[in-house]
Amino acid sequence: MEFKIEVNDKFITVNEGDSLLTALRSNGIKIPTLCHMNRFSATGACRLCVVEVEGKRDLITSCSYPVEEGMKVTTNSQRVIQARKTLVELLLSNHPDDCLYCTRNGICELQWLAAEMNVKERKFFGEKNIHHPDYSSTSIARDPAKCVLCSRCVRICEEVQLVTAIDFISRGNQTTVNSAFNKGLNVSSCINCGQCVQVCPTAALTDISHVEKVQAALGKDSKKVVFQVSPSALASFAVYLNMKIKDDPQGIIVSALKKCGAAKVFDLGFAIDLNIMEEAQTLVSILKEKSGQKFPLLSSCCPAWVRYAEEFRTEWLPMLATAKSAQQIMGTLIKSHYAESSGINSENIYSVTVLPCTAKKFEASREENTHKGISETDAVLTVRELFQLFRCYGLDIGQLQAEKPDQPYNRSSVAATEAGYSGGKAEAVAREVFRMLGGKPEDFRFTIPKNLAGKKETKISIGDHQLGFAWVSSIKEADDYIAMLLEEERDDIHYIEVMACLGGCAGGGGQPISRGFEKSIARKKMCMEMEKQNQLTFASENPALLSMLKSKKVFSDQEKVSDWLKTSVKKA
Ligand code: SF4
Ligand code: SF4
Ligand code: FES
Repeated sequence: MEFKIEVNDKFITVNEGDSLLTALRSNGIKIPTLCHMNRFSATGACRLCVVEVEGKRDLITSCSYPVEEGMKVTTNSQRVIQARKTLVELLLSNHPDDCLYCTRNGICELQWLAAEMNVKERKFFGEKNIHHPDYSSTSIARDPAKCVLCSRCVRICEEVQLVTAIDFISRGNQTTVNSAFNKGLNVSSCINCGQCVQVCPTAALTDISHVEKVQAALGKDSKKVVFQVSPSALASFAVYLNMKIKDDPQGIIVSALKKCGAAKVFDLGFAIDLNIMEEAQTLVSILKEKSGQKFPLLSSCCPAWVRYAEEFRTEWLPMLATAKSAQQIMGTLIKSHYAESSGINSENIYSVTVLPCTAKKFEASREENTHKGISETDAVLTVRELFQLFRCYGLDIGQLQAEKPDQPYNRSSVAATEAGYSGGKAEAVAREVFRMLGGKPEDFRFTIPKNLAGKKETKISIGDHQLGFAWVSSIKEADDYIAMLLEEERDDIHYIEVMACLGGCAGGGGQPISRGFEKSIARKKMCMEMEKQNQLTFASENPALLSMLKSKKVFSDQEKVSDWLKTSVKKA
């Protein structure tokens, strides 16, 4: 039901049940917030959204107060403005003064609020709390000194990712957001998804940066630094810079990385195609009862999801696909196939992936992903870090001439780009399965709804088979869905694509910081635009991949490649 309320001497129409903040914002009235997150319950923690309501003695927090018929609200009185300013001054009084050296300088919500409230000097002096930063994780750095206790990270970690790796500890002015027993994040149950980094308004949570070590490698004559850029990182790069497909974002990234000193720049989509072929093959093997595995097959390319299953759902591990992730396939190829074919000692190759994912840093560091102490992947740059690298080298992106990615891993199919958003990989795997079981490519139908929320299922029919595919994003959605499927003993779903980040990699923890889901949707749309330009629909039609698989001698040192990759080579 709609009704009117009076705000700053004007009447506005509001919906019953809405919070006052929602009502004000949907009527174009600007209200500052810090702890508020759309779709999450209000906590009233920061009090920045305060307004005056006639008849109330105290200022009220608009994010946690519902609209009431007949209410009279003032959002811009002296009392309100001064209260908000004092709140920001208090936050700053316990905040380090190191904006110049801070990774969030310029994209910090506390800085923006200070500027908006016209805060020009430190007003409150006192002993600051002493906090120690935590760099123990492979992916996420924590600096509690910069925390404003908004609880956004705590809520996303608990409510969306079901992990609760971080929470409030201690009381009063000693309160901090910390991992259990104040131990490092490395010994917590953190799955490295980076969703907390995405929602943190300050630099209290950031990447464990690999920019410096990549720069150091680029500066060494003895090292050949090779980059692999994922299609989802390309889409993100294009959206961030407002580029169109015709501007050739891939060609521009290749050119930029070459200017930084890259020896080669490969298309990581090449390995995504391989991963999709392998998962499709596994599904067909289960179907033909050639494998001991049971349905549903759960995708395993998202390292945060794999980590969650290892930590919290060990009983589901047998359902996980055994294919390596694209990052690790590419790392293996580069340090074996590429090293051998180009006559370079693999120890002199420094392999860097570029993805919108913080958990890939963790994946690259796993012991299983090293061979005789040498990492398959030496460094992982998130899209944020890619931009940082380009800034360090003073590149003017607008002036660069596009260059083509390097052979032999220079092409990828539509399937590789589809893997960049929730539902896309399920479609790509379904398409391969459809073809493997004799379906005609032109008869393949698979519809993914345009929005990013909610679990999705679809069925495809091929001959006597009817196969069910599902896709879920966020750990909560995945956990709820898989548990429901098993509890109801449903046998109509054969493959589930699981992505830990909301919306899949389009909402990845390593994407440029942006509040809300609009940018994720824009990145998904960009992926779809990229797909329209790509004539190569099937992963298994990738000519660069086929030519590698057909070459008589792909690897001479078979120990360097993982079991499944050997299997793929044999299959070809
Ligand atoms: S990275 Fe993910 S799991 Fe770890 S603390 Fe952040 S939100 Fe929680
Ligand atoms: S770490 Fe960041 S998101 Fe978490 S409570 Fe502190 S300021 Fe908020
Ligand atoms: S945004 Fe309302 S209390 Fe923080």
